[in-house]
Amino acid sequence: FMKHRKKWRHYPPGPMSLPFVGTMPYIDFHNPHLSFNKFHKKFGNIFSLQNCWTNLVVLNGYKTVKEALVHKSDDFADRPYFPMYEHVGYGDKSEGIVVARYGHVWKEIRKFTLSTLRDFGMGKKSLEERVTEEAGFLCSAIKAEEGRPFDLRFLVNNAVCNMICTIIYGERFDYGDEVFRKMVTLFENSLSEEAGFLTQLLNVMPILLRIPGLPQKVFRGQKAYMDFIDVLIQKHMETWNPEYTRDFTDAFLKEMSKGKEAEENGFNYNNLRLVTADLFAAGSDTTSTTLRWAFLYMLLHPETQSKIHKEIDMVIGRERSPTVMDQVNMPYTNAVIHEAQRCGDITPVGLPHMTYRDTELQGYFIPKGTTVITNLSSVLKDESVWKKPNEFYPEHFLDVNGQFVKPEAFMPFSAGRRVCLGAQLARMELFIFFTTLLQKFTFMLPEDQPRPRKDGHFALINSPYPFKLQAIPR
Ligand code: HEM
Repeated sequence: FMKHRKKWRHYPPGPMSLPFVGTMPYIDFHNPHLSFNKFHKKFGNIFSLQNCWTNLVVLNGYKTVKEALVHKSDDFADRPYFPMYEHVGYGDKSEGIVVARYGHVWKEIRKFTLSTLRDFGMGKKSLEERVTEEAGFLCSAIKAEEGRPFDLRFLVNNAVCNMICTIIYGERFDYGDEVFRKMVTLFENSLSEEAGFLTQLLNVMPILLRIPGLPQKVFRGQKAYMDFIDVLIQKHMETWNPEYTRDFTDAFLKEMSKGKEAEENGFNYNNLRLVTADLFAAGSDTTSTTLRWAFLYMLLHPETQSKIHKEIDMVIGRERSPTVMDQVNMPYTNAVIHEAQRCGDITPVGLPHMTYRDTELQGYFIPKGTTVITNLSSVLKDESVWKKPNEFYPEHFLDVNGQFVKPEAFMPFSAGRRVCLGAQLARMELFIFFTTLLQKFTFMLPEDQPRPRKDGHFALINSPYPFKLQAIPR
């Protein structure tokens, strides 16, 4: 266990490493970005840590993160390998997409996924129409609360999960549907498992995975979720007609049917279940948590909500459904959504990257195979860019004439080779769900409820603490 960090010339500075555990005791794993901010002040924009014997380099501030992810995108495009994923089916040519190693198979799968998502814009119902339709269902469910205080979380989660279901399985579920409820619960359990301390420990001490029975115990939720995905795919395969592509699963099955070469490129059954699970994991909680932040800010800033109501009334009116095209005529609403993303800061430490080759950044040497953490929080709250980094201030995205502007440091989707693959879909969902709900309701803080907390809690993503609101029809 006593493998020491090798000393390289010009390796980034960092806190002193302790035997066995390295620098792990200095990190608050519930708020890693806050620990990072302290080291950022002490050691500068680039500092190093050590998780047991894994070398980590943390990048901070807009300039540094941009230089690494955009200007040296190839050097920083790999992902660290986590042995624990093998227990949910990760293997050769089947690494899913989010944690896939940088290389040929990842490239093929990413290209395919992006073009398949884009194709949904054509043909029968476009993706935008489906988001609009789902926003309608969401409004009906909120209306059914009849102005009583309620937690928006469950309904918003369902709406957003339904978008991914529509893309992957070609169908949406009623919010009360039993299969759907089961899926959402299994998915939430599997996510909380991934954020657990034991999982983090297994990442750095995979030898523990050899303890009989431990993997089954630790990954029970993830296994149950993957079993459930198997059932859905199986049902889909039974009704598959190669002549007609209904959804993402069909498109993937079609690629799979192309034979050996396709299989080598990652189009195999194991990867289908991993890629679809990844799209759920990456595309649901992220978007629904951002929406929850946006509604929380509406409760805390009623004057902002009134301004949005005015803009909606002027540009869209009360009846017509909002469309993505409306965005250009709604600078204030657009600025508020961007500010909710910036301030909510839902992926404060992004996803881990790994150097693909030896590289150099601002005079520091970073060897191949180093885990790199991009402190996105330090970019979204960079004091040298934002006027009021720690406040909700939609004017960050407005020029002196009230027109929408997007500073380059707005990087909630990260940047470079591994930039969020669903950014376009997420932006569409955020605008249509948020605007449709504000078109139909005024959101208020119930009298007997405490003022919601402005800070969040972190478990893979930074979420608001639970809060209740009242939705009064307009
Ligand atoms: C990756 C943010 C919604 C699919 C990421 C990353 C971030 C991010 C920070 C890591 C990028 C990096 O490694 O540097 C967000 C936010 C969202 C959102 C803030 C919503 C507000 C979505 C949606 C989808 C999606 C809706 C899919 C339908 C993915 C995938 C990756 C990813 C597949 C991995 C890309 C790769 O490794 O090549 N996202 N995301 N995301 N996101 Fe999103």
